[in-house]
Amino acid sequence: MSPIGVFDSGVGGLSVLDALRAELPQENFVYFADTAYAPYGERGDAYVIERSRAVVEQLRREHGIKALVVACNTATTAAIHLMRAEHADLPIVGLEPGLKPAVAASRTGHVSVMATRGTLASAKYAALRASFAGSAEVRSVPCDGLVKAIEGFDAAGISALCERYMQEAGPFGDGPTQVDTVVLGCTHYPLVKDELRRHAPSSLRFIDTGVPVAQQTRRLLASAGRLADNGHGGLRLESSGDVAVLEAAAARWLGLAAGAFTSA
Ligand code: DGL
Repeated sequence: MSPIGVFDSGVGGLSVLDALRAELPQENFVYFADTAYAPYGERGDAYVIERSRAVVEQLRREHGIKALVVACNTATTAAIHLMRAEHADLPIVGLEPGLKPAVAASRTGHVSVMATRGTLASAKYAALRASFAGSAEVRSVPCDGLVKAIEGFDAAGISALCERYMQEAGPFGDGPTQVDTVVLGCTHYPLVKDELRRHAPSSLRFIDTGVPVAQQTRRLLASAGRLADNGHGGLRLESSGDVAVLEAAAARWLGLAAGAFTSA
C-alpha cells in the first residue's frame, strides 16, 4: 500500500507525524528529514523552493507516495503553491501558524507567534495576520537559531534561546494588555514545549497545528478515495543527512524504539 510522505527540513515534522499516526493508525508513512540542507528558516525563498521541489520528486519517484504532508511552516509558506501546481494529482497538506485558533482562544486579545524568520517574512503570513487586524494584537517573534539548537540536541542552546524568545513573546498573564496565548509556528518548537513552559505562567496557552493537520489529511484522503482500511501503520525514516540523528530524535521525542521503523 502506498505510503503518505511527510517532510520537514529536519526533525521538527516528527511533532506532526505523531499526530498523523494517532489519527491514521492504518496508514503507512515515510518521513523525510532534509537534514543536510537544514535549517530552512533563515535562508530565503529560492533555497526553500529548490529543496521542497527536490524532496517531493524524490518521495514520488522512490516511494510512489499517495499524499504529501509538508510538515514545515517555512516550506509551506515559500513553496506549497508551486508544489500543488506541479503535482496537481497529489493531495498535499501544508501547515501555517495557528493564528485563527489562537485568536479564538485568547481572552486578552494579545497573541504572540513564534516562528522562523522566513515564515514571518512571507506574504502568506502577512495575509494571515492582516485577516485578524482589529480583532487581536499579534506580536511576531522570529526565533533565529532555535531550530539549529534542536537539530543538534544542544541542551544549553535550547534553554538559553527558549528563555530569550519567551521574554520577547511576553509579558504573559491574564491582564488586559498581556499575552495569554502563544502560537508555535514552527514544527520544531512543540518538541521543546516543556522548556518554553519554564519561562511562562502555567495559564499560558500554546497552540500548534499537529492535530488539525492530521484531521485535514484524513478528510483529504477520504475525499480522494485514498484512505487505507487494512494497513498496519508502517513507518520508514529517511534523511538527506545522517539518519542516526533522525532515529535518535524519533526515540527522544516520540519514544520510538529501534524496530518500530525502518530507516535509510
Ligand atoms: N520545522 C520548520 C518549520 O516549521 C523549520 C525550519 C527550519 O528553519 O528549517 O518552519
